[in-house]
Amino acid sequence: MASLTVSGEVQVPGDKSISHRALMLSALASGRSTVSGILQSADVQSTAQVLRTLGVDIPPLDDPRLIIAGRGRRGLCAPAMPLDCGNSGTTARLMAGICAGHPFESIFVGDASLSRRPMRRVTRPLEAMGAEVTLAGDTLPMTIRGGALRPIEWTSEKSSAQIKSAILLAAVVGGVPVTVREPEASRDHSERMLRAAGVPVTIDGTSIALGAVDALRPLDIVVPGDPSSAAFFAALAVLSSHGRLRIPGVGVNPSRMGFFAALGRMGAAVRIEEAHDQGGEPVGTIVVEAGAGTLRATRAGGVEIPTMIDELPLLACVAARAEGTTEITGASELRVKESDRIATVVANLRALGGDAEELEDGLRVTGSDRPLRGHVVTHGDHRLAMAFGVLGALPGNAITIDDPACAIVSFPGFWESLARVSGRAGQ
Ligand code: S3P
Repeated sequence: MASLTVSGEVQVPGDKSISHRALMLSALASGRSTVSGILQSADVQSTAQVLRTLGVDIPPLDDPRLIIAGRGRRGLCAPAMPLDCGNSGTTARLMAGICAGHPFESIFVGDASLSRRPMRRVTRPLEAMGAEVTLAGDTLPMTIRGGALRPIEWTSEKSSAQIKSAILLAAVVGGVPVTVREPEASRDHSERMLRAAGVPVTIDGTSIALGAVDALRPLDIVVPGDPSSAAFFAALAVLSSHGRLRIPGVGVNPSRMGFFAALGRMGAAVRIEEAHDQGGEPVGTIVVEAGAGTLRATRAGGVEIPTMIDELPLLACVAARAEGTTEITGASELRVKESDRIATVVANLRALGGDAEELEDGLRVTGSDRPLRGHVVTHGDHRLAMAFGVLGALPGNAITIDDPACAIVSFPGFWESLARVSGRAGQ
């Protein structure tokens, strides 16, 4: 194991999923909401800008306590220009649900990566509810002509919080009840925040039923730290030889904790302290002890995949340093993220001298303690840049990254924090 000491605390910025939803539900509420600790990343800026184009007065996100005057459940205005979602799948898919319930036409566009990602998974249920949609194949640009919606019961083929949330948000705006089922439970931030806004939400296993509402109560949201961002530092700590790292104020919602559970199976010492409820979301301090011994390979698949979906590139990078072969299966969704993360993770691990192979629905990585050396091609994918950045921070490895700046999609300040925690110069 590399000889690196970590110590003290690192703060991570606000949760990306919760930040998007905080802006959206505040915009739809009847009254003034407050949002503290919002993530000021490129993806959340995309949601803020889309909502501004729809007539919502969203203040600059650098205000530590945003006050947002809601326009009411169906109060958005017809946009005078296309809605530019940038790199953000959450913006495009959740806002598609919101626009589907409004009586106007909206055109969704995005960057090159987002313009390759599938949208029909969201537009099919929205069409079943009564929206009219024009899509180029399965991808952006996407035109939605919204209007009066009808209730549906929808069974999604994918476990995806974005699909589920698009349907729930369409139902809220449309003032109709819906039921959504998914194969395995995906993150439940929408359900929790909708409840806080007074919407009746009934959860029965992987089935979510939402009752019709006339109005959303304004919210007072304190956004917790993002566990997906904390994961990079937890990984750095478990790969370090000495010390203890504390990551306070992080969301520890069980639907997001799969990566930390996998680290535990690999032999790492990771625990949650000071857990408490914060506005309907569990929050705590993640504590990682370094030098717990050699990490062992693990298997990840099935119901736990949605709980670690964004951390799978990082899990693969940690596995490159563990003893044995780690296998990740049931994760074909990785192929339609910001990059084809099965292909890009495997290609990059190999380019560095690691041992990795693609599976149709996942990947296999055999770890070693050989130095990893070479150049990482991120394809503009923020999570790839940061996952390989963690490997690059370990002594003995020599890794360059083509586009470190793409980390701003979810984690502005990542490289500075990494340099500080690892005691090395950042990328
Ligand atoms: C997100 C859901 C996940 C995740 C994405 C954010 C969300 O996507 O990968 O980064 O905020 O709802 P899927 O649920 O579509 O897999």
